[in-house]
Amino acid sequence: MDTEIIKINKIGDAADSSGESLAKDAISMAADLIRRGELVAFPTETVYGLGADATNPEASQKIYAAKGRPSDNPLIVHICDIKQLYDVAREVPDAALKLAEKFWPGPLTIILPKSDLIPKETTGGLDTVAIRMPDNEIALSLIKESGCPIAAPSANRSGRPSPTEAAHVYEDLKGRIPLILDGGAVIIGLESTIADLSTDTPAILRPGFFDENDLAAAGVRIDIRPASKISENDDTAPKAPGMKYRHYAPKARLIAIRGKADDVISMMLDLAENNASANPADAQAHIGFLCTDESKSAFRNFSANHPDTPCTIISLGSSTDAKSIASGLFAAFRSFDEAGTDVIYSEYFDESELSAAITNRLKKAAGGRIIDLNDSM
Ligand code: TXA
Ligand code: MG
Repeated sequence: MDTEIIKINKIGDAADSSGESLAKDAISMAADLIRRGELVAFPTETVYGLGADATNPEASQKIYAAKGRPSDNPLIVHICDIKQLYDVAREVPDAALKLAEKFWPGPLTIILPKSDLIPKETTGGLDTVAIRMPDNEIALSLIKESGCPIAAPSANRSGRPSPTEAAHVYEDLKGRIPLILDGGAVIIGLESTIADLSTDTPAILRPGFFDENDLAAAGVRIDIRPASKISENDDTAPKAPGMKYRHYAPKARLIAIRGKADDVISMMLDLAENNASANPADAQAHIGFLCTDESKSAFRNFSANHPDTPCTIISLGSSTDAKSIASGLFAAFRSFDEAGTDVIYSEYFDESELSAAITNRLKKAAGGRIIDLNDSM
C-alpha cells in the first residue's frame, strides 16, 4: 500500500483561500477513509495519532496490526464535542464532566465505563473506555467530518518513541497505512495525562501535561498511582495495560543519571570515558549525550578530546524550560537512532515543571537503567 502525506496549513486561514480548500479536501478524503474502516494518521497537540472508526471492530483491529500492538492494550477514543461523551460512556459522573469542561479540548484522557457503541476490540477487552478531546483543529475537523468517535493510539510502531512530526509517522508506518495528515510539529510532545474515573477512587494512570494539582483545581481529588508500580510482574491486571510494555525507547541503550547537575555531568563524562577507552572493540561505540543548554559545552569538550569516538550531543534546551524538554524528548530519541548511537548517557530532567511526565518517559526508555547519585549521599 502507498502511504500518502498531505500537508495541511491552518484550516480556517481565509488569507489563503486555495490553501483553505486544499485543507478541506484533505479532511474530506481522510474522513471518507475513516468511514470506510481504513486508518488515517493525524496530528494532535500531544503526539500524532493513528485513527480509525472507534465503533467499528474491524477498523480497530487494523490499528493493532499496523502498529504491531498487543491486542490487550486498549485505544484512546477521540471526540470533538463534550456531548459525544454520552455516546461513548455508559455513565458520566459529575467529576468527569467537571474535568471535561475545564480541560477539553486538551491533553487529558478520562477513563469511564464504556457504552455499547464502543466494541471490546477498541478497549482491549475492557468494560471501560479512555476518552479525550484533542486540542488540534485538524484532529477536531477530522472527527467531526467522519461523524464517528475516532480510536487513536500514538502513531508509532509498538515500542518506538511516539511521533511528534509527520516524518516520524512515515518512518514507522509507511506502506502500512494509506494516509498521513501532516499538521507540522506537535506542541506538547508527550502523551496525555490519563485519569481513571471508572472507580470510586479516581487515579492518574499516566502522568502528562496536567497533574493532580491541576485536576484538584477543577474540584476533583485524585490518587497518583505511580506508573512504576504497574509492571509486567504484577499479578493483578495493570490498570493502564499499555504501561507494562517497554515504550518510548530509542534503539540504543539509554542510561539516565540523576543527581546534582555537576555530579551528573562528571558521571556522564566518566561513563563515556570508560566506554571510549575500556576495550578496543568498544572503543568505536557511538556515544550519545542527552543534555541541557547549561551542560552541553562539557560534552562538546569531551567530543573534541576524543576525535576517534563517534559522538552525538543533543540538548533539549534550558534545564528549567519544561516545554522545550518535553517537546524535544521523543524527537531526540529518533535522532540518536538515525545517527547510529549505541549508548546514550542522559541527564534526568527533574528540575522542570513537567518533571513527573518527562521522567516517566525517560525511565521507560532507560528500561530501569537509572543511576541515582542522590542515593549514594
Ligand atoms: O496523547 C495521547 O493520549 C495520544 C494521542 C494520539 O491522543 N494517544 C496515546 O495513545 O498516547 P496510546 O495508545 O499510545 O496510549 C494509550 C494508553 C495506554 O497505556 C493504554 O493502556 C491506556 O491508555 N488505556 C486506554 N484505554 C484504557 C482503559 N480503558 N483503561 C486503562 N487504560 C487504558
Ligand atoms: Mg503509545
